[in-house]
Amino acid sequence: MSKDAEALFEVDLPDAVELDLTGRPIAELAEPSAPDPEAEPHAYIIALCNQKGGVGKTTTTINLGAALAETGRKVLLVDFDPQGSLSVGLGANPRELDATVYDVLVRRGVDVDDVIKDTAVPGLELLPANIDLAAAEIQLVSEVAREVTLRRVLDKLRGRYHDIIIDCAPSLGLLTVNALTAADAVILPLETEYFAMRGMAMLMETIDKVKERLNPDLEILGILGTMFDKRTLHSREVLDSVVGAFSDLVFRTVITRTVKFPETTVAGEPITVYAPDSGGAKAYRNLAREVLARSPKA
Ligand SMILES: Nc1ncnc2c1ncn2[C@@H]1O[C@H](COP(=O)(O)OP(=O)(O)OP(=O)(O)O)[C@@H](O)[C@H]1O
Ligand SMILES: [Mg+2]
Repeated sequence: MSKDAEALFEVDLPDAVELDLTGRPIAELAEPSAPDPEAEPHAYIIALCNQKGGVGKTTTTINLGAALAETGRKVLLVDFDPQGSLSVGLGANPRELDATVYDVLVRRGVDVDDVIKDTAVPGLELLPANIDLAAAEIQLVSEVAREVTLRRVLDKLRGRYHDIIIDCAPSLGLLTVNALTAADAVILPLETEYFAMRGMAMLMETIDKVKERLNPDLEILGILGTMFDKRTLHSREVLDSVVGAFSDLVFRTVITRTVKFPETTVAGEPITVYAPDSGGAKAYRNLAREVLARSPKA
């Protein structure tokens, strides 16, 4: 190479802007400060919702909850799926539960405090569920104000938690409508895989209907890309098309695919405890920061 040509390569170029997985410049988010222990909280209620199965609703509920609790917040996780996966994921045995969210919803005179359980994570509590909840869907149909049953329960708990997160079942039935009616905001996890967008229109329509008829303040807090596979072009393309369609609604945080998550279910622990320094734990801590930045100041 001639001296002149070499000089060409020595031109000072500005540092390339580093992009995150969603193709946008990396955003540094401030570390959240612990809430004032003297101030009474007013819980912000978030529902994790997607009628598609296996997209990471439960995994996100557990790990977002644990990451928020790590910052000193008091967090209640509500298992609102008769499969009871959230309860299992936090180490509870669904068959051994004396009382569940079903009893709080359907039976009179049940004290929610007798049903809420501590978890191994300080500040993180669980309102568990098991297959009994499937009956609630049927029993509630004939009730007056059947859509607001969960809201009545959770509104009374707002003064005790900073965050309440509801893990929905993969359906858009009455239970999910109850969750959307009780929530201030909804997070939509989306698997970055084939047909990720299939069903999104119906999900958005359901959210709009609930907003119109039952819960005018309901917001979509964000869409979360999950199960992202860095090795495939396909994951990348799906994520690009999701960002193309929903732009800033898509969280900067993307959850990559790793066997650590199934392992945590077996361990009955959040990833922030099971593998605190893993990429998955870091991603959920980052999501917690984004969620705090997007939610109203508590
Ligand atoms: N990022 C990830 N990488 C690899 N596996 C994952 C990841 N997130 C979740 N999983 C696994 O995928 C399965 C489905 O995840 P999860 O239960 O969170 O989805 P879901 O949307 O709650 O499912 P359902 O609709 O049945 O309630 C679980 O076995 C979980 O451990
Ligand atoms: Mg689930």
